[in-house]
Amino acid sequence: MDFSGTQTYLNLARGFAGECQAGMRYQLTAKMAMQQGYEALANTIRTIAKNETNHARVFFKTLLENAGSRDDIRIDASFPFHAGTLEDNLRFAAIDEQDEAENLYPEFARIAKEEGFGQIALKFEQVAKVEENHKIIFGYLHEAFKDGSLYATQRPMLWICGECGYMHTSNEAWNICPLCGASQGEVELHLPFKKENI
Ligand SMILES: [Fe+2]
Ligand SMILES: [Fe+2]
Repeated sequence: MDFSGTQTYLNLARGFAGECQAGMRYQLTAKMAMQQGYEALANTIRTIAKNETNHARVFFKTLLENAGSRDDIRIDASFPFHAGTLEDNLRFAAIDEQDEAENLYPEFARIAKEEGFGQIALKFEQVAKVEENHKIIFGYLHEAFKDGSLYATQRPMLWICGECGYMHTSNEAWNICPLCGASQGEVELHLPFKKENI
């Protein structure tokens, strides 16, 4: 069967469009974080935005390899357009990542397998695992941002200045770095990850 007649062909195009948009939404959220003085948070969000852009690149490349260059691909799909405060956007991102990790990409992988595209199914599964970690990170960031625990913790933690590398263990990060004078927003975050996904 011609590849362009398969569901997997359309799903790659959907995945490409979705990842491009996620990357852009996160860039906008990172900019918002930057404007509010949360530099380390902005860097984390930018790294995730870069991940999404590279997922888009993988899907684009896979589509080209299997179907060749196309002038036009018509897809029926819906994409999130929610936006709000920085706190809202972190929550929206966690919800979107969860949907990608638990519904969208597992379904794309299942269909790809059914259609006999094992290697493409593997790509969808690999991306789903990354999105699962993105969900965990955004979920943590949203909760920590909301309850003020981004830089204040129950037990002592090692805080590191993202600018000069100054380190100190305490329950709360400094407001102004004692070594270089950088603001609290530059202090590196304590990000969680799912060990089973590694
Ligand atoms: Fe992605
Ligand atoms: Fe993601």
